[in-house]
Amino acid sequence: MTVLGALAVALDIPDLAQGIRFYTDAGLELVESDGQMASLRCPGRQAAAVLLRGGAAAKRLHHISLRTDGLEAIARLVPQHGGQIVPQPEGWGALFAEGLWLRDPHGMLIHLVDAPAEAPLEPGEPFAVNAPGRVVRNRRSAMLAGRLYPPVRPLRLGHVLVFSPDVLASVDFMTQALGMGLADRAQDVIAFCCARKDSDHHVVAFAKAGAIGFHHASFQVSDPDEVGRGGRALLARAGKGDWGFGRHTIGSNVFHYIQDPWGSWFEYYADMDYIDDYALWSPTNYALEDSLANWGPPVPHDFVHNYEADALLL
Ligand SMILES: [Fe+2]
Repeated sequence: MTVLGALAVALDIPDLAQGIRFYTDAGLELVESDGQMASLRCPGRQAAAVLLRGGAAAKRLHHISLRTDGLEAIARLVPQHGGQIVPQPEGWGALFAEGLWLRDPHGMLIHLVDAPAEAPLEPGEPFAVNAPGRVVRNRRSAMLAGRLYPPVRPLRLGHVLVFSPDVLASVDFMTQALGMGLADRAQDVIAFCCARKDSDHHVVAFAKAGAIGFHHASFQVSDPDEVGRGGRALLARAGKGDWGFGRHTIGSNVFHYIQDPWGSWFEYYADMDYIDDYALWSPTNYALEDSLANWGPPVPHDFVHNYEADALLL
């Protein structure tokens, strides 16, 4: 009984058409929309990775959806660790009827689905880096002219980062009730949870804030060039803020974050740390100054601002 990976993030947003435009600009494809709700997925994948419902006063995280096995065992553990099994929420049933719905100790809604894994991604071309004493690319250029590259397409949803009023309590719930592992953390301010087998460094992560909320969803692309190219292209279309190109210390991935229309973020990532067997991994508690980036541009002033907490005060 354990979480195996991220499936989707579901958001209530003011303007559905605006949301569809942002995520299709990012390279997702629209699966279906009835004018009130929409689902989008990475091209070539079966499952929707982003679920949107329009008509809200402000953007708000509705739920995160995770792939699991052992739903019955999890259902027993959830109440023992401060969570609550809840009925399927109204209005989301037509698209997403299966699985187990629960709230974590802070009220965040989580949808668990016992779904088979999708086919593994096709191996891409090796990202060949010539290094001192190690030439792996000879008599050919690494780069085409920029205009010759097709638009970057996200390959799959890798992880979701959400706000939590108590990061360590959130981690306790994810590890004890949902069978995840703590990959790494930076004090009690940010923490990263992985699956215990064949996992990206993080699948669900938590950042400290006054209330729950959605910070970002992160989509894997082939290599650092695609992170940079995709990030620049989405920034040009979205016209808001960005953070990147840079490299995280925790998880090691290269990143480019583009701000969505509601103040949260879309991340392209490549080259993240991988944990095939959590029993053989040792979590590190990093200093706070290591929590954001190893290197990168200055961090936007509102990068870790929870706009959903602001909306609660209105
Ligand atoms: Fe991320």
